[in-house]
Amino acid sequence: MQLNDATFARFSAWMREQSGMHMPESKKTLLQQRLLNRLTARQVSTYEAYLRLLQDPDEVQEQAIAVDLLTTHETFFFRERKHFDWMQHEVAARPKNSSLNVWSAASSTGEEIWSLAMILAHQLGEQANWHVLGSDISLRVIAQAKAAHYSLNRVDGIPSVLMRKYCLKGVGKQDGSLLIVPALRNKVEFRVINLALPLPEIGLFDFIFLRNVLIYFDVNGKQDILNKVIKKLKSNAYLFVSHSESLYGLSEDLKLIQPGIYQYKSVVAA
Ligand SMILES: C[S@@+](CC[C@H](N)C(=O)[O-])C[C@H]1O[C@@H](n2cnc3c(N)ncnc32)[C@H](O)[C@@H]1O
Repeated sequence: MQLNDATFARFSAWMREQSGMHMPESKKTLLQQRLLNRLTARQVSTYEAYLRLLQDPDEVQEQAIAVDLLTTHETFFFRERKHFDWMQHEVAARPKNSSLNVWSAASSTGEEIWSLAMILAHQLGEQANWHVLGSDISLRVIAQAKAAHYSLNRVDGIPSVLMRKYCLKGVGKQDGSLLIVPALRNKVEFRVINLALPLPEIGLFDFIFLRNVLIYFDVNGKQDILNKVIKKLKSNAYLFVSHSESLYGLSEDLKLIQPGIYQYKSVVAA
């Protein structure tokens, strides 16, 4: 089935409207492959007809499915391990009764959320005053994150001491999987949040993880998200992006202190 350039451009504009994400011409084949099954499922015979369907305001569910299919959700436990090592030291240096709020702002299926929760519980205690908010644009991945249930072949990155403390290995029917312990599951809130829209009232955070998501936005999209996310940082708090992402030139208030780790020091307040 063919997708002509004009229709692709309209899909790309639709995607930007829905999620803020930029889909350049080079993503045309990917879009074609990822949406093909939806044409069959919805019994439409052209990409043009499927796009018309997506533009129907009553098709909220189909819109979410398409955005989800066109988004990359790749993630794994303790991805970019140096960030977690750094955070562990930073948290260890604080008084045990500190209150700490952490936001995983494009959490995908939750591996980043649980990596953070394990570090916080290990350093401060399971009952201490820390909380994690995990959010993503996709309800599907947030539901998976909340289920906290993973295949054992995807958990290599979890340090063995944390694995023993915070992961329950499945037996019988659950053989080959693990479940995050309830003590950690009770400390995490899950929400669907689209970073391209005005952000809801979620409070202020000591650490925000915004890793491997800005790469999907053009410079204006990045700037817009960053402006909103910065407002959710406490003074002197930390923002993490991926090692391969740079915030150079996007904010005067963020000081690079380690690869991918920025500290918020407002120039206005100084
Ligand atoms: C590659 S994953 C990154 C997961 C994790 N942060 C990591 O570094 O391993 C990117 C995630 O960003 C989410 N995402 C894309 N656009 C978004 C938006 N506008 N608002 C919120 N999340 C978004 C996707 O659904 C996807 O789950």
